Amino acid sequence: MGPPGDRSLFCVVLAAGLGTRMKSSLPKVLHPLMGRPMLEYPLHALKALRPKRTVLVVGVNGRAVREAIRPPLPVEYATQGRQLGTAHAVRAGLEPLGALRAGTVLVTNGDTPLITAGTLRKFLSAHARAGNAVSVLSFTARDPSSYGRIVRGGGDVRIVEQKDATPKERNIREVNSGVYAIEVHPLPFLEKIKHNRKKGEYYRTDLVSVALRAGARVGVFRRGEEEEFLGVNSRKDLLRAQGVLREKTVARHVEKGVAFMDPGAVYIDPLVSIGSDTLIYPNVYLMGDTRVGRGCTVYPNARITDSVIRDRAVVKDSTVIEKSVVGAGAQVGPFAHVRPESRIGEGARVGNFVELKKAVLGKGVKAGHLSYLGDAVLSPGVNVGAGTITCNYDGRKKHPTVIGAEVFIGSDTQLVAPVRVGKGAYIGAGSTITRDVPPFALAVSRTAQKTIPGWARKKR
Ligand code: UD1
Ligand code: MG
Repeated sequence: MGPPGDRSLFCVVLAAGLGTRMKSSLPKVLHPLMGRPMLEYPLHALKALRPKRTVLVVGVNGRAVREAIRPPLPVEYATQGRQLGTAHAVRAGLEPLGALRAGTVLVTNGDTPLITAGTLRKFLSAHARAGNAVSVLSFTARDPSSYGRIVRGGGDVRIVEQKDATPKERNIREVNSGVYAIEVHPLPFLEKIKHNRKKGEYYRTDLVSVALRAGARVGVFRRGEEEEFLGVNSRKDLLRAQGVLREKTVARHVEKGVAFMDPGAVYIDPLVSIGSDTLIYPNVYLMGDTRVGRGCTVYPNARITDSVIRDRAVVKDSTVIEKSVVGAGAQVGPFAHVRPESRIGEGARVGNFVELKKAVLGKGVKAGHLSYLGDAVLSPGVNVGAGTITCNYDGRKKHPTVIGAEVFIGSDTQLVAPVRVGKGAYIGAGSTITRDVPPFALAVSRTAQKTIPGWARKKR
């Protein structure tokens, strides 16, 4: 169930800031958290609220942001030409929404990656129940120094930034999360926010004072846990966020029956799913949209990205798997490289120093050692000898290799594509196959061995 009024929820995500405190040429919101750009995290939380429209406010970093993120919900972009502060950014974010007649605008920060949909929902409900024009989501910080303080007094409430705070105000630990709910009708208030002299920026936080002065209902709601509001402004903050995220993610998997050798030494994107009785060794990276089945084992130093590992599969040490599927009970590695668009069939084996690229291996295929299989289809039961290479590239174009069921490929074979080997055929070791091989044939293409008795003794 969504919050009241979620039929007309509009989201504005601020992501145009320069992020100077990161000391990096990469825009702050693109810094990765468990391999995923920070900005994608709040977008996943917003997706759960099913907003009508979502606007991402970008700045000079706009192009880079568009190219780097994979938004989980439809987003529109608004450009804030110059970074004149958060209020100015909100205004830029409202522009593409045009003249809204009713609804709530939820403003969030792109640098608060751990925020949860649950907390946002509670906040929106409180906002709607109170009938506020503007609401601010606050939390209690152990160390409030990098947040705006919520200063309450005489029925009035203000947000005071660290820079502008008196020593007394600096002791306040209730702080601004950067999340606001704004009813559509008081939005014109935004225009009235004055240029903040000290920082030379328009502070979005002045919205509260402006709304109050205009006699609108303003409220501050304290919801959620401090951890989820961690604002990432520096690399130190990013590391803290990563630590919190890792702990939460591992705890969730342990709860569901996943085993870890050392939970402090795994890197798992929070969207990854893992089945019960799967064992994960240290220094394993499970990134992007990856799904690992039940009863699998992932040995040390494996990096698996955007892939599906089906039940009981084993990924051995130092293996890289990208955008591919590993079938049930299959074994991959050690030291295998499975490049995008590969599919390894049920019970198949891909051994050490084998590279696959756009390779489809049927059930029970064995490619145990030192091979390159690219743009290839191998039907069930094929045995690939050590050192087999598909020569898929002629210097200009890629060509396919198609191998029928139960084919036996001798060691050190080169398959010069395009080429087809019919089912049940045999290829002698050391062959260079340049023409199609019919089913059940034997193909050998090497010069017959010459043996000269006593030759070596004479030479000495
Ligand atoms: C801001 C709040 C602070 C709050 C904290 C919570 C203001 C003035 N301060 O401080 O009260 O406690 O967040 O994390 O709002 N941005 C733009 N355009 C700009 C400036 C910023 O889009 O011109 C974006 C940034 O990319 C960022 C967000 O707005 O995502 C907040 O900006 P940031 O500079 O991080 O503000 P804080 O100092 O963290
Ligand atoms: Mg910030």
